[in-house]
Amino acid sequence: MKLAILSRNASLYSTRRLVEAARARGHSVRVLDPLRCYMRIAPDGFSMRYKGKPVHGYDVVIPRIGTSITRYATAVLRQFELMGSYTPNPSDAILRARDKLRAHQLLAAQGIGLPSTAFGDNPDDTDDLLSLLGPPPHVIKLNEGTQGAGVMLTEKVSASRAVVETLRGLYASFVVQEFVAEAGGADLRCFVVGDRVVAAMRRQAAEGEFRSNLHRGGEASPAEASAEEQAVAVRSARALGLGVAGVDLIRSQRGPLVLEVNSTPGLEGVEGACRVDVAGAIIDFVSKKISI
Ligand SMILES: Nc1ncnc2c1ncn2[C@@H]1O[C@H](COP(=O)(O)OP(=O)(O)OP(=O)(O)O)[C@@H](O)[C@H]1O
Ligand SMILES: [Mg+2]
Repeated sequence: MKLAILSRNASLYSTRRLVEAARARGHSVRVLDPLRCYMRIAPDGFSMRYKGKPVHGYDVVIPRIGTSITRYATAVLRQFELMGSYTPNPSDAILRARDKLRAHQLLAAQGIGLPSTAFGDNPDDTDDLLSLLGPPPHVIKLNEGTQGAGVMLTEKVSASRAVVETLRGLYASFVVQEFVAEAGGADLRCFVVGDRVVAAMRRQAAEGEFRSNLHRGGEASPAEASAEEQAVAVRSARALGLGVAGVDLIRSQRGPLVLEVNSTPGLEGVEGACRVDVAGAIIDFVSKKISI
């Protein structure tokens, strides 16, 4: 199999591990920086060039696309799709996952549990919007936040209203959510490859913190996802059209609730915590896909 990994940097852990796993299985693999790919789009065909030379004939393209280059890199990936390459995470699926409002709508439409979530545009509607969530505490999240930055907990309606008004004043895009207290500051990252969870890790927030992100002092440990949690994670990835995904769940009294579906999940944390060859699972999955 001839494989390309779309990644800005061949020395990143996840990229290196995918290259290693592919070589170990006898595949040919090359890392392409998506920002150095350029293309010709014409009704008589699609072509791609890289640093002055043509690029073609890749059976599989595995995207590792950072959020800051989503638009250009998904256009590059789409060109590969149009040229006949298989990808476990198609460009449209990545775009669905990256748009949090859209992703929440698509997941809920499949009956997948989420913390109840609301969003709106007009300041006149703030009180009614907050009332849709029930009583505080509320969680307010910037749509472009990551690693826990931009996620706020408000204990009183007056605080929720003040934060919402402040964010509106800054023209920020955000959602408001019910706070799931029984999660106890923990979440569960389920790493989905195809139709199974190949590894799961629990992240526990530091003392006095409700966000479990490792960047906020959270600690990772290997975990056992229940059959229900695994099923929810796999259905979530499928609802967005992703073959490889990191699905973050919190455990609530009404079952697993999905917080986020990550289309470029990192391998380092999960391989380190769980001692599972996740890169190998991804390569095995794509090679099986193109052989059927
Ligand atoms: N509704 C909620 N109830 C309880 N805890 C929550 C809720 N939403 C988020 N958290 C906690 O806060 C952490 C950060 O939230 P979230 O994962 O939504 O944002 P992020 O990590 O900044 O962004 P993203 O995961 O989308 O890149 C979660 O991992 C979880 O521990
Ligand atoms: Mg998160």
